[in-house]
Amino acid sequence: MCGIVGYVGKEQRCVEVLMDGLRNLEYRGYDSAGLALAMPDEKGIETTREVGPLDNLAGAVGRKNGDFFKVRAGVGHTRWATHGRPSEANAHPHTGGGESGPEVAVVHNGIVENHAELREELEGRGCEFRSETDTEVIAHLLAERAETGESLRKALVGALKRLQGSFAVAAMSADEPETIVAARHQSPLVVGLGEGENFLASAVQALLGNTRKFLFVENGEVVILTDSTVEIQTLWGEPVEREAFEVDWSAEAMGLDGYEDFMLKEIHEQPAALQATLAGRLDADDAVELSELNFDLASPGVERVVIVACGTAYHAGLLAKYAIERLARLPVEVAVSSEYRYADPIGDEKTLVVAISQSGETTDTLAAVEAARAFGGRVLAVTNTQGSLITREADAVLLTKAGPEVGVAATKTFLAQVAVLYLLALGLAGARGARPAEELAEIGLGLRRSPEKVEEALGLLEGRMGEAVGMFAGARCALFLGRGHLFPAALEGALKLKEISYLPAEGYPAGEMKHGPIALVDEQCPVVAVLGEGTLREKTLSNVEETVARGARVIAVAREGDEAAGRVARVTLPVPEVPEILTPIVSTVPLQLLAYHVAKARGLNVDKPRNLAKSVTVE
Ligand code: G6P
Repeated sequence: MCGIVGYVGKEQRCVEVLMDGLRNLEYRGYDSAGLALAMPDEKGIETTREVGPLDNLAGAVGRKNGDFFKVRAGVGHTRWATHGRPSEANAHPHTGGGESGPEVAVVHNGIVENHAELREELEGRGCEFRSETDTEVIAHLLAERAETGESLRKALVGALKRLQGSFAVAAMSADEPETIVAARHQSPLVVGLGEGENFLASAVQALLGNTRKFLFVENGEVVILTDSTVEIQTLWGEPVEREAFEVDWSAEAMGLDGYEDFMLKEIHEQPAALQATLAGRLDADDAVELSELNFDLASPGVERVVIVACGTAYHAGLLAKYAIERLARLPVEVAVSSEYRYADPIGDEKTLVVAISQSGETTDTLAAVEAARAFGGRVLAVTNTQGSLITREADAVLLTKAGPEVGVAATKTFLAQVAVLYLLALGLAGARGARPAEELAEIGLGLRRSPEKVEEALGLLEGRMGEAVGMFAGARCALFLGRGHLFPAALEGALKLKEISYLPAEGYPAGEMKHGPIALVDEQCPVVAVLGEGTLREKTLSNVEETVARGARVIAVAREGDEAAGRVARVTLPVPEVPEILTPIVSTVPLQLLAYHVAKARGLNVDKPRNLAKSVTVE
């Protein structure tokens, strides 16, 4: 939530780097965007801010000329509003000082929890506030200190020591126009290394067009950045040595590659995401190979599993529960991180805690991990982001290798999470001897083939979405039904539809539907039934019949050629046949496409749905 970037380096590069960085961070928020630039020839700091998506700021930048592009240092921000509505006044960067001391500018991601009392204190000293944000207190605290002659570093550290809450902050001062000082506590921050230039950002994605070499900034650290030096210190001034690391994501991955939207591109990248995620994790006999984990899955010490996650990752967690309980016969609890963190959770060192987070920086999931740590649980993180905060909090990490995901609605990272979690279920089952090796290898083989099955699903669905999408014209709401492990798939289908098309959608266990949601059913409430295979399929079919009897128009997600599905449904969205336990993987694809096309038919921006952000770094 909120993205920050910083640059110190070459003339003519600064504005371009900052704007590209913000473009690649726009998934973090698009309520407003802004830049603060250290103007040449000691002309102070110039800020440019616009409400709405980055295109508005790009328009304003396009109208500038001359000095504006000659700057060598600047910071930028893309906002997801927390304190204060989206407006120009509330847009970052926020500035302070400039009268009796140097003008300063700050950009911030996080929340200053004690902002009200700091504001009162600053107002008491005659400070005039220009916004409703929590961030503005940082600008004024910084300016007050800079006015006494403190260096930018010292002034920022002093200001930050007054804050409670979370922050990644980058600051500039008109007195030190070629330096940026940044710091973090809880919110993410990375440094990008260049030649004669250096960078800062909330995430590596921002900078892939400029560098692949990065340094992580840890909690309680300050970075002092110039064009030729990067110094990291603790808030208490002790120097920190940090090794650089290289990311294997390419700048091209941040482009649309001919697709209309990132969401569609990422849906089509799912076979590759699965392939990369599975590579090297199944041996020649299709047995799971997870020696990368630095703890023993066979350990008799693991007696139960707790999964914590938010949003789509939570749905991947629900699927994992089915797989782990079924295959490894270990009890699994799945919890939404924001609830778990305050639930005074019960557990001990025999609890394996699996924290799933695409970004690896969701505040609630990090806090849930902390809660699990308090009872001695061992933490395994599943994330798509190398080096993210969660990887440093966990005892072990399983990376999904989906590449950067830009669309706010998660697609390819969901399937990659599911693949990793199935591997974990197979690994636990194998290690504990809970199932015969042949049965597990058969599922392993199915998993190995899942990239081609998803490819096949995409092929089957090509040009077949029109009729189903047409059923949503004039719809008031939608009901997604599934049973067993297809219930989480139904939940994910409903979430995808509501987040990008703004249609109320319920995901429900088909058998529970008669206890309430069936009251929603009429001509304007399409029912999407995820059928799958096995005994529960028959049960789901009869639940669906009950909705048809009450006037529902049904879309079935079913195996290609499923005649019974064809009889109850107006439209069938076909998927290829896969081993029964893997049906959620292929069944998710038509649900993603349905949400995508319904939202497009409504003329909506699928990559940037209103009010949402991809990375939720505040509570
Ligand atoms: C936000 C995103 C979702 C995501 C969820 C959890 O709500 O819009 O797509 O599933 O956060 O994010 P995480 O990075 O922890 O998986």
